[in-house]
Amino acid sequence: MERLQKYIAKSGYTSRRKAEDLIVEGRVSVNGETVTTLGTKVKSGDIVLVDGKPLKGENKVYYVFYKPKGTICSLKDEHGRPLVTDYFTDVSERIYPVGRLDFDTTGVLLMSNDGEFTNMITHPRSHLEKIYEVSIKGLLKGETIRKLEKGVYLEGVKTLPCKIKIIGKDIEHKTTMLQIKLYEGKNRQVKKMFESVGHPVKRLHRLKVGCVDLKYMTPGTYRMLKPQEVKDLKKLASGNKF
Ligand code: URA
Repeated sequence: MERLQKYIAKSGYTSRRKAEDLIVEGRVSVNGETVTTLGTKVKSGDIVLVDGKPLKGENKVYYVFYKPKGTICSLKDEHGRPLVTDYFTDVSERIYPVGRLDFDTTGVLLMSNDGEFTNMITHPRSHLEKIYEVSIKGLLKGETIRKLEKGVYLEGVKTLPCKIKIIGKDIEHKTTMLQIKLYEGKNRQVKKMFESVGHPVKRLHRLKVGCVDLKYMTPGTYRMLKPQEVKDLKKLASGNKF
């Protein structure tokens, strides 16, 4: 635990005196909450932003995490449920999830401490391709597939065109397994899309985000992205396909 002003000064951002001014002026946040009290203590793992940006001097790091079921993509949980950041015990940088997956969703989750990268990847206009493997209740008909692919209205807004590939049908259990390729990431989009056509999602797994997948990885593990992968992700997220 360390006083916030000392923590900011140690990062090389500014002097301790000026750091105090920044805090009092309401320009500093800790874990998403603006802090204006000078005595506030921070600990390793806390996310400290000045004017919304991480402190410089901290290396920018990029990971792909194989999110297991039953983990939360936020920095704290009032019910004490496991957080995705709990898995990064040997990473000293203050990383956070780039976008979100639901508690019960598994698969590719990017993690970073680079705010600019996060904005780029999660921006609605990035149209970064995401592929999900989905099991849904019921046997999906061709006409429903075409309807979903063209776009359905969720809370009054039409989803962008997407692609669906059927992988298998379990006639006995009335379940369809499929892959869906989306170019946007609205909150709970996959579940809402299938709910809207009467096929609730039973299982959801994200196979790929842009060029990044989980080859050779197991749930709960992570690996650093290669510099080329970070470059490619930025390039893919800046291409406007719509
Ligand atoms: N769509 C959803 O409904 N949930 C997720 O976790 C990701 C995409």
